[in-house]
Amino acid sequence: MPASAGQVVRGSWCWRRWIGSGQQDLWMERLRAANGFPWALTERPDRSRVLLEAYLESRAAAVALTRQFGGRVRPLDARAWIHPRPTPPTRIGRRLEIVHEKTRGMTGAPWPRLHIPHGVAFGSGEHATTRMLLGALARHGDWNETAVLDLGTGSGVLALAARLFGARKIAATDFAPDAVRTARQNEALNFSTPLVRWRCADVKRLRARARYDLVLANLFSGILCEAAPQVAGCVSPGGELWLSGILRSQEEEVMAAYRRQRLQLVRTFRRGKWVMLQWRSRL
Ligand SMILES: C[S@@+](CC[C@H](N)C(=O)[O-])C[C@H]1O[C@@H](n2cnc3c(N)ncnc32)[C@H](O)[C@@H]1O
Repeated sequence: MPASAGQVVRGSWCWRRWIGSGQQDLWMERLRAANGFPWALTERPDRSRVLLEAYLESRAAAVALTRQFGGRVRPLDARAWIHPRPTPPTRIGRRLEIVHEKTRGMTGAPWPRLHIPHGVAFGSGEHATTRMLLGALARHGDWNETAVLDLGTGSGVLALAARLFGARKIAATDFAPDAVRTARQNEALNFSTPLVRWRCADVKRLRARARYDLVLANLFSGILCEAAPQVAGCVSPGGELWLSGILRSQEEEVMAAYRRQRLQLVRTFRRGKWVMLQWRSRL
């Protein structure tokens, strides 16, 4: 199961190596410093290690990564991209269904449905960190006048789910231009008129011009900690901040960073090794 992807996956060569499950942030930084390649992390429930892959245009560039970081190189199987295996829809209880292909999974289910194609920016809805946020969005009662901000929107899945559930004021940002483009396309795929304000922005450099009643951020712990003042600065007084993408081993560090931001912890959700934290901003 692909766990997370750094950008849109493209390229014909794949560099890969197994890393310890607590080392994702460190490796993301290393890859970014090396040249910011598109990457993916794959977790398997039966393994304590995580498979890290980077996708490159040339074999020489992939081999250069092995010299720097070890690991192996293999060509990507073009057939797998041309004829990807069909995937079943992702269901969030009986409250939301996410289909990944137009022809499959159009089951006529009675609950709301989003179409988010695979193979683009992160956010098919399958990953535990996204599922916890989608479940909480589905349970959120009153959307009337709730202004929503989705930080690190990827495919736009959370912003689009919020729209589907009834939010009418939504902004969403990502620092990857490909992700923002994909998210905008996904809105057009699901709705006949645009509503979400999609923006390309680095969360670490955010300057909140507006405040939001509900801020969603599914990002790595390192980024959440580093950008805590900027992220917390987007929440309106009395508003909520839902943080996901946190490994249990990093929970304390994230808690400490956000306790310093005039926020009160309201609820903690856990799914496997992942944690989601819900905070409320003091009035
Ligand atoms: C784990 S994915 C979450 C995608 C989607 N929101 C979801 O919940 O499935 C994290 C996203 O944050 C983006 N991202 C990572 N670091 C960022 C930063 N410093 N500023 C803005 N976006 C960032 C990545 O490009 C990626 O799309």
